[in-house]
Amino acid sequence: MSDTVLPDWSKLDSAAALAGNPLAGRDLLRLLDLSPQELHLVLSTAVAQKAAWAQGVVTAPYAGKAVGIILEKPSMRTRVSFEVAASRLGAHAVVMSDSNSAFSRGETVKDTTQVLERFVDTIIIRTFAQSKLEEVAHWARIPVINALTDSFHPCQGLADLLTIAEHKGDLSTLKLAYVGDGNNMAHTYLEGGALTGMHIHIATPPGFEPDETIVAECRAAAAQTGALLEVDHDFAAALANADVVITDTWTSMGSEAEHDERLAAFAGYQIDAAAMAQAAAGAIFMHCLPAHRGEEVTDEVMDAPFSAIYDEAENRLHAQKALVSLVLAQ
Ligand code: CP
Ligand code: NVA
Repeated sequence: MSDTVLPDWSKLDSAAALAGNPLAGRDLLRLLDLSPQELHLVLSTAVAQKAAWAQGVVTAPYAGKAVGIILEKPSMRTRVSFEVAASRLGAHAVVMSDSNSAFSRGETVKDTTQVLERFVDTIIIRTFAQSKLEEVAHWARIPVINALTDSFHPCQGLADLLTIAEHKGDLSTLKLAYVGDGNNMAHTYLEGGALTGMHIHIATPPGFEPDETIVAECRAAAAQTGALLEVDHDFAAALANADVVITDTWTSMGSEAEHDERLAAFAGYQIDAAAMAQAAAGAIFMHCLPAHRGEEVTDEVMDAPFSAIYDEAENRLHAQKALVSLVLAQ
């Protein structure tokens, strides 16, 4: 991956250090929008910025810029991490999460988007349908970033890949087991595997499989890295030799009415200590959070020494700061 264009971090106080990178002005609607090299660039940038911040390097390369954050579903981690990332870059964050702003008044997506782009330099949006995000990106002449849709959560994916690399090293040598709902996170891990060469095994209950079209797109993309992407119902086979064990809520935002029915369908798919014991020695546990302790995962696993959940949450900030740095560049 030597063909990535890494910024000169010794000049981080200048937006010029970020100029000309291949992600300048680009959208991130899903991880597959990136090439393997571009994904490496985002993660490398995050590593460099995280280390610089830890050493007390405080710069504001995007002073005077603004980021618009539209949240049509609840959020804590995404909102706070993007707001703080903007702050650390010197940019101002405008959050539109109430029922009186952004798309809540019946204005068309075109009008809202084309007005917003007169004020802000990037639009970060959490919404339901991927098609609405795509419509925003269609009308916007500024970068649009997916802050979670029903289909994908690429910013969480970036943070998770960064966390796995920090804990376990070379992603292309690892196996990730995702056990649970074939949801936006399952899709995102398949995309992350396709781009990094990581072996991904998704095990869901029957009826909760990932979207077949997305799986096919990931398998096609995996040809460039040789990643093995397995999707089935086999909890034990997923966990066997897994270096990373991940689950997510069984009831995503928007599916709350199905909660009781889902609890019954997902019985047997909980990550508990016995499940972790089936994974590889030294395996870590991850969860994008918020978790429903006692449902998809036990307290014992969430709070175990092998749980990386809080490192994972922290890395939202570093991964998104890197992403915004790169797309806001001229
Ligand atoms: N993981 C995640 O996106 O958390 P929030 O819903 O709190 O933003
Ligand atoms: N699958 C979850 C992820 C939350 C960050 C949801 O969409 O609600």
